[in-house]
Amino acid sequence: MASSPKSGAKDPATKTLDVNEERRQLLIQTTTVFGAAGAACVAYPFIKTLSPNRDVQAAATLEVDLTTIPEGTSTTVLWQGKPVFIWHRNAEQIAQAAEDDATAAMDPEADAARVQRPEWLVVMGVCTHLGCVPMKGGEYGGWRCPCHGSQFDNSGRVRHGPAGTNLPVPPYTFVSNDSIVIG
Ligand code: FES
Repeated sequence: MASSPKSGAKDPATKTLDVNEERRQLLIQTTTVFGAAGAACVAYPFIKTLSPNRDVQAAATLEVDLTTIPEGTSTTVLWQGKPVFIWHRNAEQIAQAAEDDATAAMDPEADAARVQRPEWLVVMGVCTHLGCVPMKGGEYGGWRCPCHGSQFDNSGRVRHGPAGTNLPVPPYTFVSNDSIVIG
């Protein structure tokens, strides 16, 4: 006759189950801890890669001293790797830009809406057709694109295709009377 387990003593099968359950819990905890540590190790370089370094942060904005640009002339600066035209317009050029509000019909935009101060025109120097850098000149007083002949007036508005839109105005702020920060 098989003997029954003594009172209070565990059935060997139950004991095995308890041990297995303890091992299972231990394995889950260990896996969770190492898994989290592993994820952190992988995530750190990844997050570090995503954070802009100092050079990139510096390039995000660009301060330009306007005193170096005589009236009637323009200069080109590089902002975020792209050219930006800054034109110190004279009275005649400002008047022409306002007069052309009525005829700049390809991408209608008033000159006053494209400048913060009439004497300073700030536009991206990237043709809106396929991205060439326009050159000063052309029939409309602004720029002419050497690639396919688009022309822009002295407000940077497109006046002759194949480009279909005006030269965009980048974000910029006057930080003093003689200086702007682009970006
Ligand atoms: S890229 Fe300027 S006209 Fe084509």
